[in-house]
Amino acid sequence: MKNILVTGGAGFIGSNFINHILSKHDDYNIVNLDKLTYAGNLENLIPSQDNKNYKFIHSDITNTELVKFLFEKYELQYVINFAAESHVDRSILSSREFVTTNVLGTNILLDVARIFNVKKFLQISTDEVYGSLGKDGLFTEETPLSPNSLYSSSKASADMLALSNFKTYGLPVIITRCSNNYGPYQFPEKLIPLMIINSLNDKNLPVYGDGKNIRDWIYVLDHCRAIEMVFESGTNGEVYNVGASTEMENIEIIKLILKHLQKPESLIEYVKDRLGHDRRYAIDSSKIQNELGWSPNYSFEDAIIKTIDWYISNKDWWNRIINGEYMEYYQKQYKI
Ligand code: NAD
Ligand code: TYD
Repeated sequence: MKNILVTGGAGFIGSNFINHILSKHDDYNIVNLDKLTYAGNLENLIPSQDNKNYKFIHSDITNTELVKFLFEKYELQYVINFAAESHVDRSILSSREFVTTNVLGTNILLDVARIFNVKKFLQISTDEVYGSLGKDGLFTEETPLSPNSLYSSSKASADMLALSNFKTYGLPVIITRCSNNYGPYQFPEKLIPLMIINSLNDKNLPVYGDGKNIRDWIYVLDHCRAIEMVFESGTNGEVYNVGASTEMENIEIIKLILKHLQKPESLIEYVKDRLGHDRRYAIDSSKIQNELGWSPNYSFEDAIIKTIDWYISNKDWWNRIINGEYMEYYQKQYKI
């Protein structure tokens, strides 16, 4: 058995990852350590909650003693660190939690992982650490880190701490840097779920600036498969970019969502631009493709429709969140 600590496994990508990995491997024991911030939701894990190889721990990665206790109790050998504050707009309002969880929390996990001689520490990072691109070019693993937002600065700091642990102590660290994800269970503060839900509710769609900022989109399950492959066959001390070469202007995606939902473009509302708004992200993922044989399975055309349809079919999930009833429901349901 592989005993794996997954942190932040109740969030968007972490929960998709756990559901994916447990459905494929019965030799993986997953201990999911999650603080259940506003972004954590145990409902995302319904497909895994009764699996005998799954255990949920409600706590915080900054709690050193608890993390040590978990390593001892569950004989943990591997760490996959998803836990983070993940939304750029929130980091503009306050960077404090971003530094606490993303930087200090990662540092604590690295320290404890070292004490317990883990076999692998996988740090889930983002292409945002590379900064912003002009019209041309792609981020490669060699692109210098040049984060602009408070979020991406905290993630870049965590990446550097992770790599320093590899260089200084030989801790078997690997980093993945993925582009923007979309798919089921994404918290409706991020572009795609927010626009889908506002459209369904006939509410305005707030477009920052001119709407021509570009992101490189990947379906969450393609990201999860990439993490699985890096976890199984990646080389220690290396960084792997993950992306599906799907650059889109925000406004193009918004119009596509409106069209699929047969809603009028008059719902679009151009609003004040985000402070320090990165213009373009685009990722070169040839390393993971050539070295590990990963490639995306989902096309944007199909997966965006699948995603829109998931939000149409799961109104209860997001209504509880947007109506603020989620915590109450959740406390009753899960006795947290
Ligand atoms: P999310 O915000 O949906 O989930 C984060 C999870 O971490 C939540 O369940 C939350 O409760 C938990 N968490 C937060 N602080 C914690 C703490 N101190 N201790 C324990 N748990 C804590 O985020 P996501 O979109 O699923 O992103 C997961 C990871 O992937 C992050 O590290 C993010 O930087 C990275 N990433 C995200 C994207 C994307 O498009 N969403 C792209 C590339 C990389
Ligand atoms: P977001 O989903 O927050 O991801 P990130 O900022 O990490 O890339 O935003 C994606 C893009 O959509 C980004 O250019 C900002 C833009 N955006 C809007 O125009 N309106 C919104 O309401 C949101 C949340 C984002």
